Amino acid sequence: MDNIIWFLTGNAGKLAEAQHHLHPLGYEVRLLSVDGENIVEPQASDLETVARAKLEQALDHLPSPQARVLVEDAGLFVDALNGFPGVYSAYALDTLGCHGILRLLAHLSSDDPVQAKRLRSARFRAVAGLWDGEQMVIGVGDCPGSIAAELQGEEGFGFDPIFIPADLDSEGQPLPPDVLGEASTHGMTFGAVDRSKKQVFSHRRRALDDLIRQLPDLSKQA
Ligand code: IMP
Repeated sequence: MDNIIWFLTGNAGKLAEAQHHLHPLGYEVRLLSVDGENIVEPQASDLETVARAKLEQALDHLPSPQARVLVEDAGLFVDALNGFPGVYSAYALDTLGCHGILRLLAHLSSDDPVQAKRLRSARFRAVAGLWDGEQMVIGVGDCPGSIAAELQGEEGFGFDPIFIPADLDSEGQPLPPDVLGEASTHGMTFGAVDRSKKQVFSHRRRALDDLIRQLPDLSKQA
């Protein structure tokens, strides 16, 4: 089998991040472009259901019968908003935008940066689904953190300018807000760091790693 993974996405930022992570592992990630009207994004209460439904539809658009196809669905889950916007993240970004999320949290602020992070805790979650030519495999990745007080930076996409990832320990595990980690953005949002730095913390990278771990052939090649 070749080393090509076809990624069904309309989001150039996601494509760039998947390429950035999978290229060094020996994979060529190519955009699988399908007319939007041919892929229906179901409104479901969890990301995995959405990813599975997209992957099933993608199977009707395989570039070749043996092709590997990747889909991925992500969302921002804010604790103080009971997980909103979550599966409604794309709609919330279009309607409220980053400023709207900041307004919803305006009453939750503190001069103490650690306390502010606790009050404004949130996480990104990504669910990646891969059809490897024979089976469907699902990978999940989380990135805990907090919502910034204001927009910061112009890197990345979506909610990146308002999301500060939690620091990580030497094994890549997230730490509480009062502990300085081995990996840290030092309070900067994903919007204020470059793609390589975002990858260290990224929910998307973790979801792709989780996928690869479940595919003996892929992890051996990688
Ligand atoms: P999607 O449905 O997976 O494309 O994503 C839902 C919404 O979350 C979209 O508006 C994305 O822009 C946003 N989103 C997904 N992943 C990220 C990320 O890594 N950073 C910032 N926003 C993201």
